[in-house]
Amino acid sequence: MGTVDTLLGDITAVAADAIVNAANTSLLGGGGVDGAIHRAAGPELLAECRALRGCETGQAKLTKGYRLPARYVIHTPGPIWRGGGQNEAALLAACYRSCMELAAEHGCKTVAFPSISTGVYRFPLELAAPIAVRTVREGLQRHPGIERVTFVCFSQAVKDAYDGALSSTG
Ligand code: APR
Repeated sequence: MGTVDTLLGDITAVAADAIVNAANTSLLGGGGVDGAIHRAAGPELLAECRALRGCETGQAKLTKGYRLPARYVIHTPGPIWRGGGQNEAALLAACYRSCMELAAEHGCKTVAFPSISTGVYRFPLELAAPIAVRTVREGLQRHPGIERVTFVCFSQAVKDAYDGALSSTG
């Protein structure tokens, strides 16, 4: 079964087969990691995204990586945190599941995720990290072709949360 690890850094610099973008449902870019990925990939990314005509929360769509070192970008809109009673946990898990499925379908051996929904979408980090780790591990069992998944953490606090989730969920 593939391995899971964390990295402190900028996902736009990671040369994985696929990097995941914490997008919004329009897929037309935004701030945060979405903005960083579009800036680094260049304008062709937005052109390809326009043709995808959006994406539902919890689903995922794949594009090329263009000027990024990654071959593909997998775009997934995470849930906006509204207190926890609007199926947010299940939708966040669905993001990770959909991305793992799409990565496997495209023969990706290495996949890098940001901490989906824990920025602008305000999903509590300490709740998101265990959901992400558990769902990625399930994905590695289901998709043996994926050899390595890395959570690319933009701050030490995020990295601590994911390291904690990795060690506590065995
Ligand atoms: N590399 C890795 N992680 C990053 C980077 C980067 N270059 N930039 C930001 N992050 C981290 C944030 O620090 C946070 O931990 O990504 C995580 C997700 O935060 P957001 O980018 O705000 O994403 P999200 O909370 O899912 O909100 C998505 O924000 O940018 C808009 O268009 C996007 O509307 C969508 C919403």
